[in-house]
Amino acid sequence: MVMSIRMASPLPLIFLLMIYEVSGADWGVSYSHSQICALKNSSVTIYCTYTYPTGHQIKKNFWTKTLFKDNAEPPDLSEDPGYSQRLQYLGDKQENCTIRLSHVTQKDSQMYYFRFITEKDKWTGKPGVSLTVTDLQVESPERVTEGQNVSLTCKSSCALTDRATYAWYRNSQPLTERRDRNNQLLLQSVRREDAGRYSCAVQEHNLTSPEVQLNVTFEPSSVSVSIISPSGEIVEGDSVTLSCSSDSNPTAEISWFKEGTFVGSGSIYSISKISSDHSGEYKCKSRNNHGEKYSDAVTLNVMCELMIV
Ligand SMILES: *[C@@H]1O[C@H](CO)[C@@H](O)[C@H](O)[C@H]1NC(C)=O
Ligand SMILES: *[C@@H]1O[C@H](CO)[C@@H](O)[C@H](O)[C@H]1NC(C)=O
Ligand SMILES: *[C@@H]1O[C@H](CO)[C@@H](O)[C@H](O)[C@H]1NC(C)=O
Ligand SMILES: *[C@@H]1O[C@H](CO)[C@@H](O)[C@H](O)[C@H]1NC(C)=O
Ligand SMILES: *[C@@H]1O[C@H](CO)[C@@H](O)[C@H](O)[C@H]1NC(C)=O
Repeated sequence: MVMSIRMASPLPLIFLLMIYEVSGADWGVSYSHSQICALKNSSVTIYCTYTYPTGHQIKKNFWTKTLFKDNAEPPDLSEDPGYSQRLQYLGDKQENCTIRLSHVTQKDSQMYYFRFITEKDKWTGKPGVSLTVTDLQVESPERVTEGQNVSLTCKSSCALTDRATYAWYRNSQPLTERRDRNNQLLLQSVRREDAGRYSCAVQEHNLTSPEVQLNVTFEPSSVSVSIISPSGEIVEGDSVTLSCSSDSNPTAEISWFKEGTFVGSGSIYSISKISSDHSGEYKCKSRNNHGEKYSDAVTLNVMCELMIV
């Protein structure tokens, strides 16, 4: 008998402590995310619930972005001209404090708090929700070499909270080939045709990134010699101009060879007052830091004036 009374005596104290704890946790605001990253011009929904002890009546509830040090009453965001048109309270006067802000701008990057006032007490949901408004940027290597695997990334300065579907453009044209994954565009074995101005977009939010230039470098190809003048037969004393063309990036250096011997450089090779000694096979070589290539040979056949007469 005596023992059982002694053991029972601490119980009421524990019970009291429990009641105290529960009632303390009864006041609260809980946000679905403490940090939200949203794209410029998108709509942001902040899901939120609030609790308070039964028996209290909600007199006023609102969102604010300002907390005063001296505990002065913070301003209601829905009365702020910068927000009122874009703010939609989706919650209720019991437990739901969800809010929606549309057409967000960089200026909306702030802390936001839900506050409610009962007939007896006031509560602010701290530490609040941090909203960051971001735009899109294409992250790309400036220069790649043909044949390399390249990936371009559509980046925002923070991790987007809601799902986004990315679209890609080259020179303002949509890229229809499905070569993208999440926010990346994969260019496998990149070709020179892939060079251009790239931008990405998130369609749901009507947001497009600035364009970024992708430069694809490659070794010379299509190297060929043409005789610019004269147009017909070449006669001793004529002035002859040869031109070497090639496709390359960066621009190639051109050198000229007559029967394997270097005779000059530059894309144009001129011989003033040609003589029969100049007859023979000419080639040009196009060279950049990725490689070099020779043209086919062009034969100059210089006629003596005597032969024509
Ligand atoms: C913002 O988005 C709306 C559609 O939600 C669109 O009509 C409007 O043109 C967009 N504004 C800007 C500046 O992109
Ligand atoms: C609160 O209201 C929003 C908007 O009506 C709704 O989507 C959400 O599910 C509600 N939350 C809860 C916990 O009821
Ligand atoms: C490019 O990617 C493909 C497929 O993943 C791979 O087979 C190939 O070796 C890669 N090429 C280079 C140059 O890395
Ligand atoms: C997207 O925004 C541009 C202006 O930024 C506007 O001209 C266009 O109509 C908008 N498109 C949609 C679908 O809202
Ligand atoms: C691409 O890069 C090469 C090498 O730096 C440069 O010479 C060339 O001018 C660039 N081309 C374009 C279109 O920017």
